Amino acid sequence: MPGERILFVDDEEQIRKLLSTWLTRHGYEISVANDGWEALKTIRAKAPDLVITDVNMPNMNGLELTRRMRADHRTARIPVIMLSARKQADDVLSGYAEGADEYVPKPVEMAVLEAKIEVLIKRFRTTKGGEAAGKRGGNVVLFLHAKGGVGCTTLAVNAAVALAATTIYRVTLLDLNLEFGNAPMLMNLTSPRTLADLAENAHEQLDETTFGSYLEQDRSGVRVLAGCDLPERAELVTVPAVQQAVDLLQKQSDYVVVDAPASFSQHVLAVLDSTDAVVVVTAAHLPSLKATKQALEVLEKLSFPTERTVLVVNRTSAAGVEMDHVARFFNRKPDVVVPHTEAADDAADRGRPLTVLHPDSAASKVVRDLAARIAVAAPAGR
Ligand SMILES: Nc1ncnc2c1ncn2[C@@H]1O[C@H](COP(=O)(O)OP(=O)(O)O)[C@@H](O)[C@H]1O
Ligand SMILES: [Mg+2]
Repeated sequence: MPGERILFVDDEEQIRKLLSTWLTRHGYEISVANDGWEALKTIRAKAPDLVITDVNMPNMNGLELTRRMRADHRTARIPVIMLSARKQADDVLSGYAEGADEYVPKPVEMAVLEAKIEVLIKRFRTTKGGEAAGKRGGNVVLFLHAKGGVGCTTLAVNAAVALAATTIYRVTLLDLNLEFGNAPMLMNLTSPRTLADLAENAHEQLDETTFGSYLEQDRSGVRVLAGCDLPERAELVTVPAVQQAVDLLQKQSDYVVVDAPASFSQHVLAVLDSTDAVVVVTAAHLPSLKATKQALEVLEKLSFPTERTVLVVNRTSAAGVEMDHVARFFNRKPDVVVPHTEAADDAADRGRPLTVLHPDSAASKVVRDLAARIAVAAPAGR
């Protein structure tokens, strides 16, 4: 079926060229990606009608790409054909296990490939998967920390406010600290409705206006979705509800800032799947540094690209480890160092964001730098 959009994912330029030329000549609209990670971004920007992917690739391989596509309801139904030189039965099986629709060994028999493409696209069309998929939304920025009390929430709130203050970006904030969330409090907001209510109401179809009634807007323009009103209701929040919320927030904003708890919970991992940049916050003290190092290792194991992580050292106390020690410990220079300031507690106690209440403090200036870093790590509109 000419005119169908196919994404071809392969790390070898030669093969990318060869196959895309051939498919273009047969009337398909082809886009290409170098690896699974790039492919995911492309797919989320505009869902193709079919994905053809290599298995072995750096950054994120084809199995992982397929797994992630299947885990996300927006991309779950897009047909996937895997190509690989490894034609052993095991590989074929693991391809199918991750949810591939077809497995085609390399070297590719073009006629066979085309027949499979035809069948899969036709099937996809009739199950109407295409309409739900796609539609580009804003960037998700996930604020992580491995130990509580390092100022993660403070920085998430203030970075959101700083992004909104540019007036260029529409910014939303999701508080994923379900039991003891305090992001709304730092903005003096008391939300009548929360993510727990959203989950409890289990909307099948949720239009933007209804969803809007779950959000509360701060004076800075940041719109906030609170996690939960009472700790004991936290368990109401399901992973699909979190995904639905992030999806809808993306539609309404250029940046969705997520304040995560100090855990790689299922909820946090679900958000990580659609995250464009991670901000990892640590204090300059050994317990937090050690935990942060482990958290960075987890991100690496999950193939989250290092260039999309922003490492922030927040001097929550006047004392702490010297920065060159910290850099040696992480084997990387922190991207942002927030100075210690009494103004942080003052702002919290008054329910006003630090960057609004004390815009001239050194810490506020650094938070604005952090917002700029985020805009570089995850440029809006891409
Ligand atoms: N740069 C800073 N200097 C001094 N205190 C800070 C700084 N950043 C945050 N704080 C304070 O640290 C405490 C913990 O902050 P919070 O954002 O709740 O941490 P987390 O979300 O990591 O648990 C708060 O009292 C906050 O005001
Ligand atoms: Mg917090």
